[in-house]
Amino acid sequence: MRIAPPSALRSFKNRQRAPGRHRRPSSLAQPAAPGYKRGSMQTLPPYQPGTTLAQDYYLRPEIFAHDMNLLHARWSLAGHVSEIPAQGDYITAELGAESAIIVRGADGHLRAMANVCRHRGSRICTQHAGHAPVLTCPYHAWTYHLDGRLRHAREMPDNFDPAQHSLLPLPVAIIGGLIFISFGDNPPSLEKAQPALARMTSRHGWENTKIAARKTYSVQANWKLVLENYHECYHCGPAHPEFTQIHVLARPGGRRISAEDVEAWSPQPDGHEVFRVMHSPMAETTSTGSRTGEPLAPLLGSAQYDGICMFAELGFLSAFLAYPDYGVIYRFLPKTVLETEMEVLWIVDAGAQEHRDYDPAALTWLWDITSQADKKIIERNQQGVLSRAYRPGPFSNMEPATRMFVERYVLELKQDVLF
Ligand code: FES
Ligand SMILES: [Fe+2]
Repeated sequence: MRIAPPSALRSFKNRQRAPGRHRRPSSLAQPAAPGYKRGSMQTLPPYQPGTTLAQDYYLRPEIFAHDMNLLHARWSLAGHVSEIPAQGDYITAELGAESAIIVRGADGHLRAMANVCRHRGSRICTQHAGHAPVLTCPYHAWTYHLDGRLRHAREMPDNFDPAQHSLLPLPVAIIGGLIFISFGDNPPSLEKAQPALARMTSRHGWENTKIAARKTYSVQANWKLVLENYHECYHCGPAHPEFTQIHVLARPGGRRISAEDVEAWSPQPDGHEVFRVMHSPMAETTSTGSRTGEPLAPLLGSAQYDGICMFAELGFLSAFLAYPDYGVIYRFLPKTVLETEMEVLWIVDAGAQEHRDYDPAALTWLWDITSQADKKIIERNQQGVLSRAYRPGPFSNMEPATRMFVERYVLELKQDVLF
């Protein structure tokens, strides 16, 4: 397991500068989404703790711009190491106006860098995934080594110094095969989140998995409504009969924090990334998240069919479910004020063969049907929030995590704190 400890993360920028001996320009020191103005959040609509947000939070473009700033500054999931096993393999990860290249270098190390050419700023990699011995900008063909150093630029003046034009490095951390990146210069510490999440990924062998299926759900709603919905199971009874059959969490009182669980959502920003890792019982006679209750794929890691599923989240935009035989990964991707993509990945043991060891339709059944239902209910929620009749409403006893999310979000927004 390759994990970048916080000390390594702190020294990350120095290490990443070494190959090109370049100083990182200050352009990412204060990431700025279009429309963002520092200090402009002093005039936020009022917020009453214990309730949902006022309409403006879901509609105003300048608040969305500020939201993107908060999201760029923290950690989000870019992908899984199994997507880039060989030298020269790369994936890209977008978040709002930002794009990253995550590439395995000639030295076997995995790096993240801004997908922005140092000539005139073109995107360099235009596919979600690929393989290349060098990174070539499609505009004027500047080429970069896989570690980001500029390799060749045609017809440049004599005083041009290639060493000053490496791709900008981005912070990257790998936990149990999961690749997290940040578009901020000084992302929150993973010191607390890393060991908690690693316990889950290690027990479930996530480092040695592969992506068996991937689906994207485009939700016509503000990203905060998507996350508010993800964080509560008050809606599971009415909206998810399939999930409710399988998971105790859907029942009143079904959300229990055990001694092994960690829920790190301090009300105030404290320099640490928010995260949660929870054990959640499944209904009796259910061994995994399947239509029949029967296993769907080979057991992962040292997991057992013990009736437990694990839920985890890291940051605002990445969530995980670990069943004994498969995993589900959610990437929440805000696109515009009123559009959010949910990308869902299903992972199984790296050695499992499609149709021999797992059936993709059976594997994806529960979380496909659940995601489709979520899309519907979130879009209806957004329609109501757009109405003149919308007023912030009170949270129930079954929405504590939604309340934590909303209250933490408002504090970060008001304080203009970017860690
Ligand atoms: S913008 Fe990339 S080579 Fe010109
Ligand atoms: Fe749901």
